[in-house]
Amino acid sequence: MLDKKTLFSAVQPSGVPTIGNYVGAINNFVKLQDDYNCIYSIADLHCLTVRQNPAELRQATLGLLALYIACGIDPEKCIMFVQSHVHEHAELTWVLNTITYPGELNRMTQFKDKSRSHADNVNMGLMDYPVLMASDILLYGTSVVPVGADQKQHIELTRDLAIRFNSRYSDTFIVPEGIIPKYGAKIMSLADPTKKMSKSDENLNAFISLYDDTDTIIRKFKRAVTDSDTKIYFDPENKAGISNLLTIYSVFAGVSIDEAVRQFEGKGYGDFKIKVGEAVAEGLKPITEKRLELMKNKDYLNKVMIDGAEKASRIARKTLSKVYRKVGLYRAE
Ligand code: TYM
Repeated sequence: MLDKKTLFSAVQPSGVPTIGNYVGAINNFVKLQDDYNCIYSIADLHCLTVRQNPAELRQATLGLLALYIACGIDPEKCIMFVQSHVHEHAELTWVLNTITYPGELNRMTQFKDKSRSHADNVNMGLMDYPVLMASDILLYGTSVVPVGADQKQHIELTRDLAIRFNSRYSDTFIVPEGIIPKYGAKIMSLADPTKKMSKSDENLNAFISLYDDTDTIIRKFKRAVTDSDTKIYFDPENKAGISNLLTIYSVFAGVSIDEAVRQFEGKGYGDFKIKVGEAVAEGLKPITEKRLELMKNKDYLNKVMIDGAEKASRIARKTLSKVYRKVGLYRAE
């Protein structure tokens, strides 16, 4: 246990998670839990960077914890906690802000995208978002961070900040590495396979939410945009829609991409889409049942959250106090 490296990752409890979040992140959280000391956070402070409905945000926070557990993250093995329950995240962000340059944040793709999609609310938090994320990671002596491809730039900034702090104030932070899956790091929209699948898409047919029922899932896959060819093979560049469906199928059916291609050799697109829908619906069914069961047991979820925050705080407190000492903040003892 002790010699295992630390793994940290998080998901924002904004909106309803999609199968993109599952394939790119949560499914890997489950797979990696025996290999590392795993810490999984619910990044509620990050959500505040775009306007939220407060009651919905509170409910979604509890819902995401239930989802983590329902997907198979074991609270006995992993620390699960809500980001705002550990105040050191906000505090380390302040210190890291003092070694971050506006130009570094300005050129972040996600900041540019979100500034466009939330043009009426381009706030400082939106720009500072990656520094809060760096704090999340660096507080725990994290070696690895499993994420989807869209977070790669943020991990790179985290590494830069760790290296910069270490060289300015002496060795303090472990420089973490991202774990980005070979397949499924970027699940594409069902309505436009050149775009990332996103829970904030206005077109509800563009994404499969982890809370969709079987009929909805199959209906959405039947409508998935593909191409005018008839052959099913994996070629993300020229056959983005079909390759996206093959990737999704391979994860939910538990087969390799090659095996998925073999299974659909000679089959038509119509049949294929239904089979993908069925595999996803089948895979999500036990997760949904478990999640709904857990949601009835708020006491249990609160207990996991409180335990998680206590354990996380113990680690975060030590790191922050080291950082405060290194940068020269006086502590009266
Ligand atoms: P968030 O909540 O947007 O997404 C959570 C995780 O899901 C991945 N993901 C996808 N993967 C594949 N295909 C997609 N279409 C897709 N959409 C989302 C994301 O890459 C991510 O891994 N900033 C983070 C949350 C965060 C965090 C952290 C992550 C806060 N602090 C520290 C790692 C470490 C975010 O907004 O993820």
